[in-house]
Amino acid sequence: MRGPTGIALTLLAGVALAAGPRVAARQQQPSTGAGTASPQPPATQAPVPPPPGDLTQQPPQHGAQPAEPPNERPPAPFPAHQRPQPAPAVLERGKTMYLSLCSACHGADARGGQLGGVNLLRSAVVLGDRDGELVVPIVKNGRPGTAMAAIPMPDADIMAVVAYIHSLQAQGDIQGGPPPGPPVVLNILVGDAKAGAAYFGTTCASCHSATGDLAGLAGRVPDAKALQNLWVSGGRASGHGPGQRPRRAENAASVKVTLPDEVVQGRLVRLDDFLVIVLLEDGSTRTIRRNGDSPAVVVADPLARHNELLAKYTDKDIHDVTAYLATLK
Ligand code: HEC
Ligand code: HEC
Repeated sequence: MRGPTGIALTLLAGVALAAGPRVAARQQQPSTGAGTASPQPPATQAPVPPPPGDLTQQPPQHGAQPAEPPNERPPAPFPAHQRPQPAPAVLERGKTMYLSLCSACHGADARGGQLGGVNLLRSAVVLGDRDGELVVPIVKNGRPGTAMAAIPMPDADIMAVVAYIHSLQAQGDIQGGPPPGPPVVLNILVGDAKAGAAYFGTTCASCHSATGDLAGLAGRVPDAKALQNLWVSGGRASGHGPGQRPRRAENAASVKVTLPDEVVQGRLVRLDDFLVIVLLEDGSTRTIRRNGDSPAVVVADPLARHNELLAKYTDKDIHDVTAYLATLK
């Protein structure tokens, strides 16, 4: 009994919530008069709508307090917002050091990064730190057993980094929100193009050539992220997505089906547990029923190597190869 009643109550609450805004909107029409409409907390006074038909009056300013100057921030809601800002030179130094020593792991905007560094804007340690007393020991000693290794740097430098991180927190609108300013554009071209060229030579050049099929690749796919996705996936043959084109006919997967009295060969159209569909040379298709291992089906897919390689690339290989391919303008 309790279950269904609970559900019914939840549903009712849902309906009431869903109806809420619409009811409020209806009540806000001028004819209903003032005072009934405001969805604001009770303390704020409901705006007085203009009399119907009066076009000279400005639209009501919902919830605005006329005394407040236009662009002033509301009182800082969190202690992190109330910190005095350090001298600009300290911030500048802290920022430079943060970007070179911490951002790879903690992210360029300090909200966490690819290499597993935690979000520092939401970090309870950083929020609770007054003047480096919590953060400095972590930087100096690291966190044994984690990727946070000890970073040997003078205390004054750590303090500058700490001041910089605090300044990001102090400027954020909401705790943990993105720091102010334009969004940080990630540059994924962080690899070593020379090492990438060498890797390409040993791993890829048996099938590709920088002056042949991949010539001008970076011109076709200027966005580094799209370029990386394209080469890692081997184009994925869909013809969709940035820079992708349909798979070349000669690179299509081929299939050989050995039936009791004949061998069927051609381009693979489809293969599942029940059917194999083969495109024959004359352009017709042949659909053959499968039952377990019979008949024998052998697929040769030139892209199969790409799948195998996926398991072998290290992050560095991927960064390096992308940096190299980005030079193939
Ligand atoms: C190689 C990657 C890496 C680098 C570089 C790095 N960190 Fe970290 N940091 C981590 C990881 C991972 C953790 C989380 C450790 C854990 O699980 O306790 C961490 C934790 C922290 C914490 C504790 C956060 C918390 O809430 O527990 C602080 C503070 C911190 N790092 C500051 C820095 C500063 C400042 C720098 C640069 C001077 C820096 N880190 C460089 C990886 C890194
Ligand atoms: C065994 C052969 C083979 C190897 C090795 C191989 N690829 Fe490929 N790759 C292919 C085939 C086949 C395709 C699909 C080509 C097509 O769509 O026509 C492909 C597609 C691509 C594409 C998309 C090409 C385009 O024009 O859109 C890129 C980029 C690429 N590979 C890069 C690489 C890189 C980088 C490596 C080495 C890390 C590599 N490949 C290793 C066979 C290979």
